[in-house]
Amino acid sequence: MAKIFLVTAARPNFMKVAPLFHSLKEESWADPRIIHTGQHYDLDMSDSFFKDLLLPQPQINLGIGSGTHAEQTGNVMIAFERVVSREQPDLVVVVGDVNSTMACTIAAVKSDCKVAHLEAGLRSFDRNMPEEINRIVTDTLSDVLWTPSPDADQNLLNEGIKPEKIKRVGNIMIDSLELLREKIEEENMLEEFRLDAGNYAVVTLHRPINVDTRNTLKNICDVLEYTASKCKVIFPVHPRTEKSLKAFGLYSRLDMNDHLIMVTPLSYVKFMSLVFNSKFLITDSGGIQEETTYLGIPCLTLRESTERPITVSMGTNHLCNIENIYLNIDEVFQGHSHKGSIPELWDGHTAERVVKDIHKRFEY
Ligand code: UD1
Repeated sequence: MAKIFLVTAARPNFMKVAPLFHSLKEESWADPRIIHTGQHYDLDMSDSFFKDLLLPQPQINLGIGSGTHAEQTGNVMIAFERVVSREQPDLVVVVGDVNSTMACTIAAVKSDCKVAHLEAGLRSFDRNMPEEINRIVTDTLSDVLWTPSPDADQNLLNEGIKPEKIKRVGNIMIDSLELLREKIEEENMLEEFRLDAGNYAVVTLHRPINVDTRNTLKNICDVLEYTASKCKVIFPVHPRTEKSLKAFGLYSRLDMNDHLIMVTPLSYVKFMSLVFNSKFLITDSGGIQEETTYLGIPCLTLRESTERPITVSMGTNHLCNIENIYLNIDEVFQGHSHKGSIPELWDGHTAERVVKDIHKRFEY
């Protein structure tokens, strides 16, 4: 049996690994194992996702936790190298673009182990984003590159990557969404937070560029208050953002606003249930740009660039800055946002295509 390591680390990884784990589990030739680096460790940033996504406890947890970029990356590399050398996996699958994705890739390829990257080829072309560095390093070193969209294929080809390494498989996050659609639709979050379907906004923010400096975060608080003057706003607050809001004396100002509901980070099913019924989102997340495109819900992304341009060209995503976001919010309320369409292969069957590709490529 092929021993396949599926690396998880931070919140956005879990919904990318889960469908692949479940699909591989059904194959007689595959022995999938979840390795958690422990980059995210809080109950609501990690455990609740395992539960919702029906994942077993990780086989191995490296327990790395937080740190500077070099500390986190270095600690994951050291710990993961030991595991690879002891366990000798046949294949390491890494997902997304967090520090652990890059760290495990480096450690595995240097241990002579095959690496496949799921969600390869995304580029924001902004090297100030730590994730962009992680994407470039991971894609350069990986043996197999599974991409979600044609722009990702092109980015890899432009960087000189051999075409035979690249396989477009679609968007794995849509598999998780479809896998749990029933549960998401059954969840009743509206009553709990006294929200009316289609008449509230969901906010998520965690990028260092938005939340680490007082002035920017204060300007964003103004945007949230403006939004709350038009409809209710629900804001699950990431630990990084909570720290900044408190340190900059901005937390209580938002918390006092009756139309602005601040909550701790939510589990996958609860969060998606809020998204399903929302009027629009304000976010700086990567994955939410894709989920809203799939669901046809307007998404205002507070970022200068996106590594997911197809969500803007085909979907419902709008890149905004702190000045023009007001206009974009007004447009949502005037009903001017366009519906968009769903990119090819974002169909809930990506995991099956990945499994087929592993089987064919490595002849397990
Ligand atoms: C990381 C990823 C980012 C991803 C995001 C999703 C990198 C460089 N960044 O950013 O790409 O979009 O995850 O959330 O890998 N903390 C807790 N509990 C936790 C995890 C974090 O309190 O379970 C706090 C710690 O104070 C930590 C801070 O959040 O220092 C930041 O965590 P970290 O994993 O370094 O980066 P994220 O901002 O979460």
